[in-house]
This record gives sequence, structure tokens and C-alpha cells, in this order.
Amino acid sequence: MKNLFSVADRVIVITGATGVLGHAMVLHFAEQGARVVLIGRKQEVGRALEAQARAAGGEALFVAADVLDTAQVEQAYATVMARYGRVDVLINGAGGNQPGATIPPDKTLFDLDLGALRGVMDLNLMGTVLPTLSFARAMVEQKRGSIINVASESALRPLTRVAGYGVAKAAVVNFTKYLCGELAQKYGDGLRVNAIAPGFFLTEQNRTLLTHPDGSLTPRAQTILSHTPFGRFGTPEELLGTLQWLASDASAFVSGTVTVIDGGFDAFSI
Ligand SMILES: NC(=O)c1ccc[n+]([C@@H]2O[C@H](COP(=O)([O-])OP(=O)(O)OC[C@H]3O[C@@H](n4cnc5c(N)ncnc54)[C@H](O)[C@@H]3O)[C@@H](O)[C@H]2O)c1
Repeated sequence: MKNLFSVADRVIVITGATGVLGHAMVLHFAEQGARVVLIGRKQEVGRALEAQARAAGGEALFVAADVLDTAQVEQAYATVMARYGRVDVLINGAGGNQPGATIPPDKTLFDLDLGALRGVMDLNLMGTVLPTLSFARAMVEQKRGSIINVASESALRPLTRVAGYGVAKAAVVNFTKYLCGELAQKYGDGLRVNAIAPGFFLTEQNRTLLTHPDGSLTPRAQTILSHTPFGRFGTPEELLGTLQWLASDASAFVSGTVTVIDGGFDAFSI
């Protein structure tokens, strides 16, 4: 019987692969029989994760690249094409925030560090645009491919304090929807672009916002959980079902969407 959700043998390129969420994605897709390409800047972490995926019987290839460096991204694309000759899925996972683009309780909008704001816009938006411009070329040739952008709950409902990050992720959502039309109208319905909007997952980029050094929750984390019907943070593994659906033929008529994965945060008021 055909498995609609199969990703076996698909070439799945993941940027931000060495991060907390990326790590779970890499191991999952390798376990599912995909050929997983890990794109990241951290050689040592990337090679270790590549080895871990291979040790578990998966096919994995680490390629070092900074997603903001066009030449490095192009080089990574050339490496992937030389090795596999195709790209089936691109997950644009590289992203994050910077302290200067966040406004702590004792500061105001007028203290915003514009350099940090630009940095956050660049990483999240241009860090999605540049890999797309390279890796989507294979998809156009194949007339087939799925791009999955990693947005955030903060793109949909602005959160207090994280001024720059929310704006940047909102731009990722808009780019996702734009690209859905652009690619399907010019190259056919085999090309799909979607985004996921994770809610709150405790990872390195938000650890200091959400927990004290002793691991206890900050007041902000308590506020978040009181607005989350599930009453807890998500685990990286809880993104995987949605990603597999978007990466596989099970979502063949799905493009331009944003799937919220947040334990009910987005739907909840009081
Ligand atoms: N953790 C959450 O609660 C949460 C919620 C919503 C969205 N997200 C998004 O999920 C994605 C993964 O984040 P995470 O939580 O795993 O954080 P993370 O910091 O663990 O991972 C981010 C990864 O991106 C990499 N990266 C940063 N700049 C890069 C660059 N210029 N080139 C290449 N790689 C670069 C980092 O090295 C890191 O490996 C990000 O886009 C983040 O914004 C996270």
C-alpha cells in the first residue's frame, strides 16, 4: 500500500540544522529514509550530527554555509547537486533573535538597537530568501519541490518585547504566501511553499527570556504558559508530524499556508 506520508529517498535540505529544532528534524528525516542535507555554520556540531544520523542508519551530509552569504549558499547548492542531483524539500530553519532587538521591561521603543533590528530582519528574512533562491532552482527544473519556512507565532500575533523578531517572522509569512503564487503560476503545481509557526519551545535562542539560571520559569514564561491551553512548552519532536506532512505527497494540494503548532496559544484569549 502506498504511504502518502513517505519521504524515503527524498533530498531534504535543512538550514539551521545544528540548532535545537533543526537537530530533531535531521534525526527524524534520516530515520524516515530521506537523504538529509545539514546546512550550518558550526563545523564540529554539524559533523557530529551528521555522524549521529548515519550511525542510526540514515543518509546525511553536512555542508557548512552561512545563510546570509550568497557565495557560501551557492557553494552549498553546488555540493548538494553534485552529490544527489536534486532537491526535494528545503526547510528554512536558520533564524533567531538578538538581545538588542528585544526591549526589556526597563527600556522603551526608543532604546531599540537598530543594528540588532537589522541583524534580526536579515537573518530571518534574507536567511530564508537566499537559500530559497539557490535551492529552488533544482525544484524549478524538476517541476517539483516543497519549501517549508519556519516562521513563528510572533508573526501572527505581535508579542511584547520581541519587536524585531516578530516583524522579521511576519515578513517570512508574507514571503511564503507570495512565493506560493509565484512558483505555482510560473512552474506548475508541483512546487509548493508553506510555513510553520511554532509557538513556544524552550531552546537556546529564548532560554534566558524564559528561564532563570537555576531552571525556574521567568514571569514571562509563566505568562506564556497561562495563555497556552496545553499549559506547557512544546517539544521539538512535536513539530515533526507537520513537517513530514508538508514534505510529503500527503500535502499535494497545500501551498501558501501557515500551520500553527502551539498547544492552542494562537486560538486562546481568556
Ligand atoms: N524555539 C522556539 O520557541 C521557536 C519558536 C518559533 C520559531 N522558532 C524558529 O525556529 C528556528 C530554529 O530555532 P531554534 O529554536 O532551534 O533555535 P537555535 O538557536 O537552537 O537554532 C537556530 C540555528 O540557526 C543557526 N544560524 C543562525 N544564524 C545562521 C546563519 N547566518 N547561517 C546559518 N545558520 C545560522 C544557528 O547556528 C542555530 O544552529 C528559527 O528560525 C527560530 O526563529 C523557534
